[in-house]
Amino acid sequence: MSATLDGRELILGVTGSIAAYKAVYLLRELTRAGARVSVCLSEHAREFVGPLTFRTLSGRPVLTDLFDPQSDAAVEHVALAERAAAVVIAPATANLLAKAAAGIADDFLTTLLLAARCPVVMAPAMDGGMWQHPAVVDNVATLRGRGVTVLEPDTGALASGLSARGRLPEADVIVDAVLAALTPQRDLAGERVVVTAGPTREPIDPVRYISNRSSGRMGYALASAAARRGAHVTLVSGPTALTPPPAATFVPVQTAEEMREAVLQHTGAAGIVIKAAAVADYRVRRPAEQKIKGKRDLTLDLTPNPDILAEVAARSTGAFIVGFAAETNDVVANARAKLEAKGIDLLVANDVSRRDIGFDAEDNEVLLIDRWGGSRALPRMGKPAVAEAILDAILALRAAHPARKAVR
Ligand code: CTP
Repeated sequence: MSATLDGRELILGVTGSIAAYKAVYLLRELTRAGARVSVCLSEHAREFVGPLTFRTLSGRPVLTDLFDPQSDAAVEHVALAERAAAVVIAPATANLLAKAAAGIADDFLTTLLLAARCPVVMAPAMDGGMWQHPAVVDNVATLRGRGVTVLEPDTGALASGLSARGRLPEADVIVDAVLAALTPQRDLAGERVVVTAGPTREPIDPVRYISNRSSGRMGYALASAAARRGAHVTLVSGPTALTPPPAATFVPVQTAEEMREAVLQHTGAAGIVIKAAAVADYRVRRPAEQKIKGKRDLTLDLTPNPDILAEVAARSTGAFIVGFAAETNDVVANARAKLEAKGIDLLVANDVSRRDIGFDAEDNEVLLIDRWGGSRALPRMGKPAVAEAILDAILALRAAHPARKAVR
């Protein structure tokens, strides 16, 4: 990244994780990149690393206690927050994420976060089980929805002895994220983007339905990344447990037919359509009006759902259309055949036979296959990072094929 942190005022917040010692290296990297850093330690961080180390490396007093009458810092949090170009919290514990999401201000760092109007980057570190806890997942989604950059923790050995996602990201990744937060990408400014996400539910009777394991995470990550990059986003979503990004227009649907209607209604003016939803292929031809009783054999009469993606592609007069393919075998060949059959521009293929990526997983490892014969494998990453890479690919392909509209 070409930007620099030269002369930028940063606040480095450190909270009470075993990874707190790594904040010392991060501080060194931030100052090496030219930043002037004020360090703020939470009470528990101080039990892992003493303030003297941070004071020596930053050349500034370390901020600790909001309520210490001896401390000049007691009244300084607002002035400091106003001066800062960015706040970086590394490591950010599950507790810090929860307090930040709820707006709790009970120490210097959390009070400063409420006063800050600058970009905020959080680098979480915690036990893998904690990172996946629904409360943490919700808090991260809330923070991201507000524009906070919450990095994905790394996967590897944790203090508990287990190997899982929960390690503090490397210092250079955090420095890059700070640079990115200070020079936000607005390369989708003014663009209309429609994203579909989640599963659909096809009723069998008033209480039962056919559906699939899609969590919606990939589509929600795409919607929030596109909104952050300046797009007007419409998110058409089947039922998920996720909080929609506040910047997007949210259109909740249940069935494939409802999704089709919503998508066709919103794609008219769209420049980019991304169909990340896992649409149920079949629906029950005539769902029972009353709850089906009894323990006898039951045969469901299924009929195929409309192929929304193919229909959008057939009707489109110029939108860049992206589909997803869930494959279990011969991923490349099947994906290319699907791209051609549906007449779309880019297909994001993932291998759903693996439980650690793709469907209902935190990470994804996808193959990007485009209609001009190109294919590119992305490394395994968290879904927010995959979302950014997909948007980058869309913009690059569009720029490389300006005559695309005429070809369709
Ligand atoms: N899709 C759609 N409407 C459908 C089925 C799928 O719009 N009725 C879209 C999905 O949102 C996804 C893409 O088509 O972007 C591929 O979905 P997938 O389930 O992999 O493919 P299918 O078309 O269902 O083909 P198959 O089940 O034969 O693999």
